[in-house]
Amino acid sequence: MRKKISIIGAGNVGATAAQFVVQSGIADVVLFDIIEGLPQGKALDLAEACPLWDSPSKIRGTNIFSDTSDSDIVVITAGLARKPGMSRSDLLQANASIIKEVCSEVAKTSPNSIIIVVTNPMDVMAQLAWKITEFSCKRVIGMGGILDSSRLTAFLSLELDISPEDIETIVLGGHGDEMVPLSRFTTVKGIPITELLPKKKIEALIERTRNGGAEIVSLLKSGSAYYAPSASIFHMVKSILLDEKRLLPCAAYLNGEYGIKDLYMGVPVILGKGGVEKVVEIKLTKEEKAQFKKSCKSVRKLIKKLSI
Ligand code: NAI
Ligand code: 2OP
Repeated sequence: MRKKISIIGAGNVGATAAQFVVQSGIADVVLFDIIEGLPQGKALDLAEACPLWDSPSKIRGTNIFSDTSDSDIVVITAGLARKPGMSRSDLLQANASIIKEVCSEVAKTSPNSIIIVVTNPMDVMAQLAWKITEFSCKRVIGMGGILDSSRLTAFLSLELDISPEDIETIVLGGHGDEMVPLSRFTTVKGIPITELLPKKKIEALIERTRNGGAEIVSLLKSGSAYYAPSASIFHMVKSILLDEKRLLPCAAYLNGEYGIKDLYMGVPVILGKGGVEKVVEIKLTKEEKAQFKKSCKSVRKLIKKLSI
């Protein structure tokens, strides 16, 4: 039997993530939204594309939460997205209410699921989802670092005119302006990036990565990025469903790792059928540690505002 993935929120990110899953044929999808007709219309359109993709996946759209029951994975994209001039944290209160409502339902209807939290400010929403569901922290994971790393890879690829396939990088920390891109671990086929680009250029590309989400918001005028976010969700879904055990930067619960307690933060994790199977600890330099702590502080500040 194919696995069941429910995607909560049939907006830009939710519907595009649904597309990537059904196009791959690795699972069936239930697309849920509170807007009548929206998930049904998008699901029908996707179902009509499946024959062209030779995909056996089934997809249905619904406004009834119990249709998501017994999901293997629940992806939460429900909530407001940024408008020009807004930061991810401006979405805090409104999205927290949505996460509370959705997660109470998920805990009842899909008690054994693995949750992928996408809604912004994502690290805070992941912590909230974990608190509300009372699931093991291994089964509540946030998506952010994969997207940020992919953005840096894309910019490096454009700058160097080298295939992104040969570029490796990793971005840790919160999915916010204080993310921690690790240039020390950025390589092109194993060659340190510092051998190929001057420091100033690397710094400029890192800065562009920090503002990667805002750059797209300002171009779109309404709404935020969704193709790369959805591709990032798909990476996580695939690693879990196929038990690939990929090492990916995700928001995971830290309980002492990296010297941080009781906080969701972007770190390298092994993702497999159990969710977060391991938080991988790497030794950070003094400067990286300071950046990581600063990023933790920003997330904690928002968590405090919500009194989680
Ligand atoms: P969107 O506005 O296109 O879609 C959001 C959908 O959520 C809407 O269709 C809305 O009706 C639905 N919704 C609202 N309340 C709901 C509820 N209680 N139950 C079910 N559905 C509900 O927004 P988009 O672009 O899809 O973004 C969604 C969220 O993901 C935003 O908060 C955005 O900031 C975040 N995001 C996070 C990223 C990350 O890297 N973590 C990347 C991209 C977006
Ligand atoms: C992004 O980075 C909005 O978090 C979203 O594009």
